Amino acid sequence: MIILGIETSCDETAAALVERRADGSGKILANIIRSQLAEHAAFGGVVPEIAARAHVELLDHLIEQALAAAGLSLADCDAIAATAGPGLIGGLLVGLTTAKTLALAAGKPFLPINHLEGHALTARLSDNIAFPYLLLLVSGGHTQIVLVKGLGQYQRLGTTLDDALGECFDKTARLLGLPYPGGPAVEQAAQRGRAGRLALPRPLLGAPGCDFSFSGLKTAVRRLVLRETDDGQRVLSRQAVADIAAAFAAAVSAIVTDRLSHAFALYHRLVPPPAGQRPVLVAAGGVAANSALRRAMQDLCAAQGFAFVAPPPALCSDNAAMIAWAGAEHFAAQKAGAAAAAPQGGLPAGLDCVARARWPLDQAAPAKIGSGRKGAKA
Ligand code: KG4
Ligand code: ZN
Repeated sequence: MIILGIETSCDETAAALVERRADGSGKILANIIRSQLAEHAAFGGVVPEIAARAHVELLDHLIEQALAAAGLSLADCDAIAATAGPGLIGGLLVGLTTAKTLALAAGKPFLPINHLEGHALTARLSDNIAFPYLLLLVSGGHTQIVLVKGLGQYQRLGTTLDDALGECFDKTARLLGLPYPGGPAVEQAAQRGRAGRLALPRPLLGAPGCDFSFSGLKTAVRRLVLRETDDGQRVLSRQAVADIAAAFAAAVSAIVTDRLSHAFALYHRLVPPPAGQRPVLVAAGGVAANSALRRAMQDLCAAQGFAFVAPPPALCSDNAAMIAWAGAEHFAAQKAGAAAAAPQGGLPAGLDCVARARWPLDQAAPAKIGSGRKGAKA
């Protein structure tokens, strides 16, 4: 089956075509992404209204480009999938409305997709891995450890109590005078830094459970910047920027591997050991593109008997191939059985769905951060 996927939940406008074969493996036929970095750069972060307008201007062109790149027309698609949440509501509305309209006009089923599920299932597209697996989802709006038991079966084991890790990278970059998005900039600076010259705290290290906290780390970076600039009297030297970035990277790796080692123990208790098979840790989300963090996770997995799978960096950050793939997985499950795509009120299923700013993967897990300014996707 061939699925058209559309992603507009934040500052990337994206359209992709993905094929799911009968054996359950997947293939990306086209994957077009247009980042709105330039539009938001002056503001040091994503401006929701600007993002929504940019999606309106770009999306139909990108869909045309994706179809042309794959050598396909809308008629060749079996269904159309779009991110319905969580995310910035204006952008979600653009993608959803476009996808619903195309589905209605072309007479195709429409599949509303949870953006987080797109991240969670990407490793099945890139590496064809089987359920169950442990997932570390680290992005600009989310930091979660999730037990992925099967399609639609997600148990949250840990989450952030305050900032998301990507948000912490972005804020650290801003404090260091590095450009947005902060993750890649901090990663590059850290490579020039002298490891061990500066120390930063590691919140919740060793604490029971798998939750994260990053706001103390961010505050400590601010203090370090003040110390290195004599309370703002001097500009931060290039070397000081690199040294602080290196201290930040070291703290992040230590925190993430500590929380994951707790999750590994939990995983062993929750999932019956598969015969002769190593359990799998999957990393997903924009921060999973960080090579130092990937190395740290690789080492942890090697030491603790887990296999480590991380999709290629381009599939870790936001894209529409992951939305098309999640659509393909659901569509295949619908076709295979129980939850058949029954028309609702004469319309193909899903056309009455609404955009959702918040939409947790694990609906049963209690919220650990309240509503308010915690990022649109928190
Ligand atoms: O998954 P994503 O593209 O969008 C969200 O769903 O949030 O993640 C974006 C986040 C940003 O905070 C960005 O700074 C971070 O991922 N990021 C990185 C790296 N590349 C992107 N963080 C650390 N190292 C990187 N190489
Ligand atoms: Zn994302």
